[in-house]
Amino acid sequence: MAMKQAATTAIRALSSSLISHSSPLVRQLHASAESKKIVGVFYKANEYAAMNPNFVGCVEGALGIREWLESQGHEYIVTDDKEGLDSELEKHIPDLHVLITTPFHPAYVTAERIKKAKNLQLLLTAGIGSDHVDLNAAAAAGLTVAEVTGSNVVSVAEDELMRILILVRNFLPGYHQVVNGEWNVAGIAHRAYDLEGKTIGTVGAGRIGKLLLQRLKPFNCNLLYHDRLKIDPELEKQIGAQFEEDLDAMLPKCDVLVINTPLTDKTRGLFNKERIAKCKKGVLIVNNARGAIMDTQAVVDACNSGHIGGYSGDVWNPQPAPKDHPWRYMPNQAMTPHISGTTIDAQLRYAAGIKDMLERYFKGEEFPAQNYIVKEGQLAPQYR
Ligand SMILES: NC(=O)c1ccc[n+]([C@@H]2O[C@H](COP(=O)([O-])OP(=O)(O)OC[C@H]3O[C@@H](n4cnc5c(N)ncnc54)[C@H](O)[C@@H]3O)[C@@H](O)[C@H]2O)c1
Repeated sequence: MAMKQAATTAIRALSSSLISHSSPLVRQLHASAESKKIVGVFYKANEYAAMNPNFVGCVEGALGIREWLESQGHEYIVTDDKEGLDSELEKHIPDLHVLITTPFHPAYVTAERIKKAKNLQLLLTAGIGSDHVDLNAAAAAGLTVAEVTGSNVVSVAEDELMRILILVRNFLPGYHQVVNGEWNVAGIAHRAYDLEGKTIGTVGAGRIGKLLLQRLKPFNCNLLYHDRLKIDPELEKQIGAQFEEDLDAMLPKCDVLVINTPLTDKTRGLFNKERIAKCKKGVLIVNNARGAIMDTQAVVDACNSGHIGGYSGDVWNPQPAPKDHPWRYMPNQAMTPHISGTTIDAQLRYAAGIKDMLERYFKGEEFPAQNYIVKEGQLAPQYR
């Protein structure tokens, strides 16, 4: 409590002393009581909007905070029109104070947009993963970037488990046979396996990676993980997962690889041609982390050659994926649009998290520490 008061006092003191627009710290200052312009960029739900009162993650649902914001005198613009100079988002860039967006339909916040956004103070991600923002440019401009850390960890870990099973059991060809009026057991069975006894490795064992390992434990697999940090020894023992310090040494051991790191300068293109070649022939890959962690063409080539035996995930580069994105047409893929972290349960959690942070922003209070991605010119450790 005392710490929180001290932090609030420090921020207020800063706000009166740092008036110079040349200071990079100016724009990170929390709000005063005046009316703010808040813009939300979400996916549009159209005919699905009215089908569930808890469907708050779309344009129409607007995170369920419109009445609350407007009753306090703030302006709240919500749109899905985010690309290009003629977009609705672009119109509001020069005078918005807060931009809320979501990884499922990301507003790409480039250095150019940050430069134009003279009033911008706060970038909030409704979900987890803020790589749609040029984080270095945001840090240099003194902006605060925050996400609802933990909000959809369960949703993603469950989805990854489903994708692992879909690939290992060769589920999709069977489904397509049924839809197409066919019946060919051999066409599925020649490459369908049990999960038990297989080696599964996660690249990244943060919140989602750890939960996936916990969920996998009852399947009696060999569990490996690579991360910059070791899991707490007690939990590691409980899960029975083995730490692999060297990623390249882990790759040839894995029947299934799951990617669970953020997209950073270090992980962009991490799975290029050379690294994929180090994986076991026929490896199954699940990637719900970010599309750009993979080299797009290297994945296509390896799926074509059979070096990757199956690829599933919900993340693409860019999003929405264009109609001609090659991952739509490669063999043995089980891709979907970006959905794993936007279940109705997840939407309610990240909407509540956004409301909480806005409330704190209006009062000049600190956010929960784990939510900060950029604060006072510094990137959070997982993005460095
Ligand atoms: N598909 C979806 O709907 C969805 C939803 C939520 C999150 N995500 C993605 O999943 C990512 C992970 O989420 P989380 O909640 O587990 O985050 P987290 O911060 O709890 O964990 C990330 C882990 O990655 C590790 N890491 C970072 N860089 C690394 C590197 N270069 N090498 C090895 N390990 C590295 C970190 O040490 C950390 O343990 C998010 O950043 C986001 O991109 C996707």
